[in-house]
Amino acid sequence: MPIPPETDRLAFREWTTADLDEFHAICCDPQAMQFVADGAPWGRERTGQFLDRNFAAAADLGFCLWTLIDTTDDRLIGYCGFIDSDSAPEIGWRLAPEYWGRGLATEGARQVVRFGFDSLGFDRIIATVQSANLASLRVVEKLGMRRIETYERHGREVLLFELTKSDSVA
Ligand SMILES: CC(C)(COP(=O)(O)OP(=O)(O)OC[C@H]1O[C@@H](n2cnc3c(N)ncnc32)[C@H](O)[C@@H]1OP(=O)(O)O)[C@@H](O)C(=O)NCCC(=O)NCCS
Repeated sequence: MPIPPETDRLAFREWTTADLDEFHAICCDPQAMQFVADGAPWGRERTGQFLDRNFAAAADLGFCLWTLIDTTDDRLIGYCGFIDSDSAPEIGWRLAPEYWGRGLATEGARQVVRFGFDSLGFDRIIATVQSANLASLRVVEKLGMRRIETYERHGREVLLFELTKSDSVA
C-alpha cells in the first residue's frame, strides 16, 4: 500500500497487531476521546476492532487511517488518514494529548490531503467535526476546508466540511 511520505517531524505507516497497547493508551483516555462519537473512552476490544477495520481498509482500499510516528523516537503518537465514506474519503486524526499544541495534527493532515489528491487520485475530501471540538475546527480551517452541512449525531452537533482538488491545498 502506498503511504504518505514523511514530514519534518512525522512518519506514516500501516498498523500492526503490536500497536494495540500503545494505541489503546490514547483510546482509553477521556480527554482524547471527548469529541469522538458519544465521547466515551474505548475499551480494549473496541480499540482492537479499530485496528481490524484499518487492516481491512489497507488491504481492500489501499488507504486507511495511517499511524503517526514521531520520527525522533519512533513512538506511535496517533493517526491521520482516510476512512471510506458514502460521499467521499473522509480525513480523520487523533493524537496522544501530550503531543497536542505543537502543530503536529496540521502537519500530518496537510501531508495526507496532498497525498490523497496527488497520489490516490481523490477529487474531494470531507471531514466531520463536532462543533465543540475547537482544536479540530481550527485544523480543518488551516487546511482550507469549507463547511457545507450541519447535522446531529449522538445528541451532538456535527459539522461537515469538504475540500476539492481544485481548491488550493493550504
Ligand atoms: C484535534 C487534535 C488532533 C489537534 O492536534 P494538535 O496537534 O494539537 O493540532 P495543531 O497543533 O496542528 O492545531 C490545533 C489548533 O487548534 C488550536 N486550539 C487548540 N485547542 C483549542 C481550543 N480549546 N480553542 C481554540 N483553539 C484551540 C491551536 O491553537 C491550534 O491553532 P493555531 O495553529 O492557530 O495555534 C487533537 O486535539 C486530538 O487528537 N484531539 C482528540 C481526538 C479528536 O478530537 N480527533 C478529531 C475528531 S474530529
